[in-house]
Amino acid sequence: MDIRVLQPSDIPHVQQANITNLPENYFCKYYLYHALSWPQLSYVAVDVSRPQKTPYDPPKIVGYVLAKMEEEPTDGQQHGHITSLSVMRSHRRLGLAEKLMRQSQRAMAETFSATYVSLHVRVSNVAALRLYRDTLGFTVEKTEAKYYADGEDAFSMKMDLTKIKDEFEKSLKAAYAVEDATAGAEDEGDEVGSAGKKGDGEKEKEKEKKVQYKVGRGLGVQGLVERNESKAT
Ligand SMILES: CC(C)(COP(=O)(O)OP(=O)(O)OC[C@H]1O[C@@H](n2cnc3c(N)ncnc32)[C@H](O)[C@@H]1OP(=O)(O)O)[C@@H](O)C(=O)NCCC(=O)NCCS
Repeated sequence: MDIRVLQPSDIPHVQQANITNLPENYFCKYYLYHALSWPQLSYVAVDVSRPQKTPYDPPKIVGYVLAKMEEEPTDGQQHGHITSLSVMRSHRRLGLAEKLMRQSQRAMAETFSATYVSLHVRVSNVAALRLYRDTLGFTVEKTEAKYYADGEDAFSMKMDLTKIKDEFEKSLKAAYAVEDATAGAEDEGDEVGSAGKKGDGEKEKEKEKKVQYKVGRGLGVQGLVERNESKAT
């Protein structure tokens, strides 16, 4: 079994798995929107045991997690959101959903500095609830009445990601510290003429090493969500 990042060419197969496993379905462009906006956050589980007979054989996608960053967080905190998760019946209880979720959560914290991840789940979905609460460590924030199109309530759940984020930042700092120490220890000899001197351009480049980028886009996505399912899991 291979767990890898979702590619745009996987979308029809992921869409098929979604339709098979869940009543909350989305237009193709909504999947594409996730894959193109946050390519690091969505993953697929591919059964690679089946030999590929021709180069045109599609990958056998047996599970997926579709995830995004919240674009306009009302609480001002960068956080991720799980839009959809499912595993085909034939491949359940193998730990695939757990692995897909952990990969996505790590990417949220490491790539986008997410402090937490949120999701919605049907109050009757025992398997998913056990996965989120008991295996992964999510907590129930609140119950949202009639959240789903068929009138069922949802638990709004959250999981803290600050530990992953802090550990990652610490490891980055440590890596840079080693790099700096090694660079300082190197004996490059004295400057020889103008060739050994750092030009103004080089100094400027060093100053600009750390650049901050704003993530997410201020685009609305309501139009991309299939009718009545705008609040799906
Ligand atoms: C929920 C779902 C994604 C779990 O996928 P999975 O790959 O079978 O889950 P995992 O093997 O990673 O299970 C991890 C843990 O979750 C819990 N869990 C998973 N399925 C369970 C079930 N049917 N009953 C009780 N607990 C379950 C267990 O604690 C399990 O750990 P264990 O196997 O060591 O006991 C899968 O059942 C599914 O696709 N369901 C239909 C779609 C769906 O409900 N998606 C979630 C929408 S919010």
